[in-house]
Amino acid sequence: MSKLLRGFKDIFGKEATALTELENSARKIFKLYGVEELRIPALELKELFVKFTGDTTDIVQKEMYAFEDNGGRLVALRPEGTPGVARAYIENNFPNENPVKQFFYIGNMYRAERPQAGRYREFEQIGAEFFGSSAPSADAQAILLLKDIVKDFGATDYKVKINSLGCDKCRPAYRQALIEYFKSSKDTLCEKCQTRLEKNPLRILDCKIDGPKFDANLPVQKLCPECLEHFEEVKKLLDGKIPFEVDPRLVRGLDYYSRTVFEFQAGSGAQNAIAGGGRYDGLVKSMGGPQIPAVGWALGAERTVAARGQVNEPKEIKVFVVSMDKACNLYAFDIMQEIRQSGVQTPCALFDKNLKAQMKQADKIKADYAVIIGQSELNSNTAVLKNLETGEQKQYPRAELVKLLKDK
Ligand code: HAM
Repeated sequence: MSKLLRGFKDIFGKEATALTELENSARKIFKLYGVEELRIPALELKELFVKFTGDTTDIVQKEMYAFEDNGGRLVALRPEGTPGVARAYIENNFPNENPVKQFFYIGNMYRAERPQAGRYREFEQIGAEFFGSSAPSADAQAILLLKDIVKDFGATDYKVKINSLGCDKCRPAYRQALIEYFKSSKDTLCEKCQTRLEKNPLRILDCKIDGPKFDANLPVQKLCPECLEHFEEVKKLLDGKIPFEVDPRLVRGLDYYSRTVFEFQAGSGAQNAIAGGGRYDGLVKSMGGPQIPAVGWALGAERTVAARGQVNEPKEIKVFVVSMDKACNLYAFDIMQEIRQSGVQTPCALFDKNLKAQMKQADKIKADYAVIIGQSELNSNTAVLKNLETGEQKQYPRAELVKLLKDK
């Protein structure tokens, strides 16, 4: 028998319902903020991610589903949405025609990571990318947009961390200071961090393998006056609207960030980030577009659903229609459609089993009521309504029955 691939999963029942609720919350809040949908392909040229997610990232070094297609092109399933969105923004001429643009996307991403709780090889991201503004207000609004989605969905137990990574002017000195700091204790770093030391020393700060190894002398980033002012302004705009913590060790795992970075974290496990993002002022230009600043984030849908847990949905009644006789099937079928059209949940009944089996099915799907049709109901244009909890039942004229169910 064919089996599911490791790290992939089938989603159904409560988790599927909760994911849809999250998507609905997101679409509602995106609309409120005037953010437009952008649908991008799941498959892109591999080099898009190698160059722009960054070749020093774990994603590119070992987590991509990349292969040669039949035309000999090197392609990859998207591990994240940002490079594809930036490519689409440039390729569809937005920089010239309409550079200030806010997009959102909802879709599956693929990373061949070692699967564990909260870490899958296929997972859903809901993301937003704001192009065309370097104003701190764009950073703050992106963060508040994310907060409003998570709030509308009903997840409350999370922390928000923010930091500024500075810019090309002030970051090199920090990188150098980190290299100097870690060089003396290189042997104590994990293998991965040893290779990060020269290429991407900031990432050593959030090593997930054997934990961070630093003491009180760890250098702190000194932002240039412009980056400092930007960061101060972002914080001022957020103050009082969302509780947040400044975490100087928040560095994020992607190469394109500059200035503001942030994460929404739930719980304390290694896979605790439900969302992450930041500013990437250099990405559009590095892709061949004009100098256009941008800021964005992506929310991990499965992790956000898990962070919220189960909620008691408002109870909606469920009705199952039962036909006692083949001759009644058409009449029962029409009543089933009529109840549905009135807005009452009426799962598919097939009338292909005996009465007992049909009543069993009503139980199985946890119906609240059965509508039972026999010869006498057909002849009198009525139906029997049975309350499956109390066992009470009564015959009603057809029109009255539908109205009664609608009002329950
Ligand atoms: P990221 O931090 O790599 O950022 O991913 C964002 C979120 O996707 C994570 O916080 C997490 O909730 C979820 N996620 C990531 N990997 C997995 C996985 N293997 N299984 C389940 N969930 C996962 C980005 O992808 C950036 N593109 C965000 C961004 C947009 N920055 C600027 N714009």
